Amino acid sequence: MRVAQPSPSTIEEAAELLRAGELVAFATETVYGLGADATQGRAVARIYEAKGRPRFNPLIAHVADIAAVEAIAEVGPLARRFAEAFWPGPLTLVLPHRSGSPITSLVTAGLDSIAVRIPSHPVALDLLRATGRPVAAPSANRSGHVSATTAAHVAADLGESVAMILDAGATPHGIESTILDVTGERPVLLRPGAVTSEAIADILGHLPERPSAPEAHRPTSPGQLESHYAPALPVRLEATSPRDGEAFLSFGPYAPAYDGPLLNLSPRGDLAEAAANLFAALRRLDHSGARGLAVMPIPEHGLGAAINDRLRRAAAPRPPSHPSPPVT
Ligand code: TXA
Ligand code: MG
Repeated sequence: MRVAQPSPSTIEEAAELLRAGELVAFATETVYGLGADATQGRAVARIYEAKGRPRFNPLIAHVADIAAVEAIAEVGPLARRFAEAFWPGPLTLVLPHRSGSPITSLVTAGLDSIAVRIPSHPVALDLLRATGRPVAAPSANRSGHVSATTAAHVAADLGESVAMILDAGATPHGIESTILDVTGERPVLLRPGAVTSEAIADILGHLPERPSAPEAHRPTSPGQLESHYAPALPVRLEATSPRDGEAFLSFGPYAPAYDGPLLNLSPRGDLAEAAANLFAALRRLDHSGARGLAVMPIPEHGLGAAINDRLRRAAAPRPPSHPSPPVT
């Protein structure tokens, strides 16, 4: 595996690797993606192997422009409004999969919908343009683990299964894209993320609905499974102070002092800063030698909704399919 600084020549090399069926991890504005050519079944199968990801969990297809979206998905009037408002950017739209699209069925896990996004990170966009094909890319972490926001996280989780990592430093948003299902009459928010529900409400006129029966989405969206984004340590939420032996993840100017392992997601209480720091903080505290992780309450508005969603999943009981990863 090679870690490369993005430049016209390394991006061209990365594009060649993708077209040759190899895996390339790259920075996006949300988290690092583990990319494969979405039109090659063998290449996409390697994503599932590298991540240890269940094959019924579909992937997001990344493309560079709206014409490339239209080649693989049907973009109705409602979807178009969201596309115009948020693309390129950290919104994923679930759209009807266009018949005859060249996307391999491993990307959609056989569904008749497809999740698509046009990222705004210049490295991601340059790579997509150079590749000239849709790129399937889940977050570049082991399945069930915390997403990767630096090249070092990618290397630690995925190692030699990746041919190349395009290292553009820490990802700016640090939390995954918002996923909005626009296949029905009313948009449904499948995953809160870097685009806030309030920003979606500005377009829609009201807050988006959440899945009415969460179970109904589970077979198709294990990102919605309760245990996900899990550090190795057990997580205790809504902690106003840490207990003996715990690491403490705090937030804001009024966080209590602590002699044990401590990280403040944003001492000035800024939710965007907290989101950007979240996954790196979880990884660091995981290696702090503590026996548990106590997390202070985070406000639920704006990006707080996405942060709390990830923290609740990190704290949820872990099913055997998403065991705690070993501490290394
Ligand atoms: O920010 C992001 O979205 C990052 C970067 C790399 O783009 N990607 C990412 O991918 O978070 P992943 O695979 O970790 O999460 C994608 C989620 C999964 O929970 C999957 O179940 C859901 O999207 N998904 C994919 N296709 C879907 C579909 N057709 N219907 C419903 N959910 C879908
Ligand atoms: Mg993921």
